[in-house]
Amino acid sequence: MNMKNLVVLTGAGMSAESGIATFRDADGLWEGHDVMEVASPEGFYNNPELVLDFYNQRRAQLKFVKPNQGHFSLQKLEENYNICIVTQNVDDLHERAGSESVLHLHGELRKVRSTKNEQLVYNWEENLILGDLCEEKSQLRPHIVWFGEAVPMIDQAVGLVEKADILVVIGTSMQVYPAAGLLSHVRYGTPIYFIDPDPSIKESDFNNLTIIQEGASKGMEELLTVLL
Ligand code: OAD
Repeated sequence: MNMKNLVVLTGAGMSAESGIATFRDADGLWEGHDVMEVASPEGFYNNPELVLDFYNQRRAQLKFVKPNQGHFSLQKLEENYNICIVTQNVDDLHERAGSESVLHLHGELRKVRSTKNEQLVYNWEENLILGDLCEEKSQLRPHIVWFGEAVPMIDQAVGLVEKADILVVIGTSMQVYPAAGLLSHVRYGTPIYFIDPDPSIKESDFNNLTIIQEGASKGMEELLTVLL
């Protein structure tokens, strides 16, 4: 069967109902920290222990959270569509819901990499501390794209969006580039569905955009009635 290409862009709101805090909903702080303190190379340089500890906590949290109905609804769509998910999230909840194709634009909590050679990436389940070294004897750091760093997966993501027959966007404030710019890469006229309880864009901003002003689970339930 020749299935349509459905590309899904997800942000922190996708995982909110699983109990993972979003970035910009709580007075600009992320789990009590200034984002630049824990998500920038400068922050890591200034206080590596704080940054490692911050991501250790986020990684440990993954053991206690589960995919929500929104993640499962997306997986269900795989019966009818050729689905590629492009996520800004560093958790693994899409994978744990069974989604087959997930591209992590901003890295993954369950991986770490060398501070010297970014090609050296390792799976990592436990805490990462100062003194944990790569095979070339350099300090390891979280495999997370921090502010000011290149986003190596962006070209692949653009390629996917350009081939989309339908684009679905879930739970992102559309403030962080280049991810937010992906919407403008759809072919003209491609239907776009945007699920967010507090959407940062309006229907007139893009051609053929439908806003579903709901949380991820409820919004996906509504979308399934449109797409199935
Ligand atoms: P934000 O925290 O900026 O935005 C979260 C969005 O989720 C907002 O638009 C909320 O309205 C929405 N939201 C809240 N609850 C929701 C729910 N139950 N269902 C659906 N949506 C809900 O998160 P992102 O846009 O993902 O980067 O932030 C982008 C990037 O900024 C992140 O990947 C991260 C951060 O700095 C890095 O860590 C590199």
